[in-house]
Amino acid sequence: MKLIIAENYNEGSRKIADLFEAVIAEKKDAFLGLATGSTPEGMYKCLAEDFNAGKVDFSEVHTINLDEYLGPDRSHPQSFGYFMDKHLFSKVNIKQENIMLVDGAGKAEDEIKKYDSRLGEEPIDILILGIGENGHIGFNEPADFFVAGTHITELAEETIQANSRFFENIEDVPQKAVTMGMAGITNAKKIVLAAFGKKKAGAIKKLLSDDKVSPKLPCSILKLCRDVTIVVDKELYRCIENE
Ligand code: PGA
Repeated sequence: MKLIIAENYNEGSRKIADLFEAVIAEKKDAFLGLATGSTPEGMYKCLAEDFNAGKVDFSEVHTINLDEYLGPDRSHPQSFGYFMDKHLFSKVNIKQENIMLVDGAGKAEDEIKKYDSRLGEEPIDILILGIGENGHIGFNEPADFFVAGTHITELAEETIQANSRFFENIEDVPQKAVTMGMAGITNAKKIVLAAFGKKKAGAIKKLLSDDKVSPKLPCSILKLCRDVTIVVDKELYRCIENE
């Protein structure tokens, strides 16, 4: 695993956008794996800026998102589909038919089948992952085992807590989600795991501190993947060093 320590969030976001653009420059119909949350917002901003500057073209690009809450549909401001429309899809020339999202209001079994069939067609070319404070990737929460396929998952208490900042009341945070499993994630040809700020330092420190792979720290499965770049900022890295 390669570690990039960026000066700050903006520089880290720029570096991640550059990694994505390099893949798209090589393969115009690249299959991108995308995440939501505060972590990738900055990289989407860079991608949109570069699209406006004519530096990147999404007309042939295909995407798949990591996860979605069960309940809200794409028009709901807290759904991940809405987030993607707002931060990236509405700002670039991607074709609607090339976007794969879980319909949170749809029948979960159908959504799962749709996802696994798409992931069975080809591996993701480049995947951006955020990380939970508990080490989750996608909504693969700490557990006794890894789940390979796309599946319904119950959000961990700390995830509900962390995500409540996007909702008026913590009770409004959906408790279930559909997430890509570890097969879809680990089969990606390139993986970028991004973590900024001191809150994520504990999880990254655990990831880097030994060579163990355990479902209790879901991100540790990335040690089995060939091409992983971890992008952190100095604030996070200083916490790791000082602990
Ligand atoms: P964040 O979430 O980017 O909003 O911090 C990351 C995650 O929980 O996977």
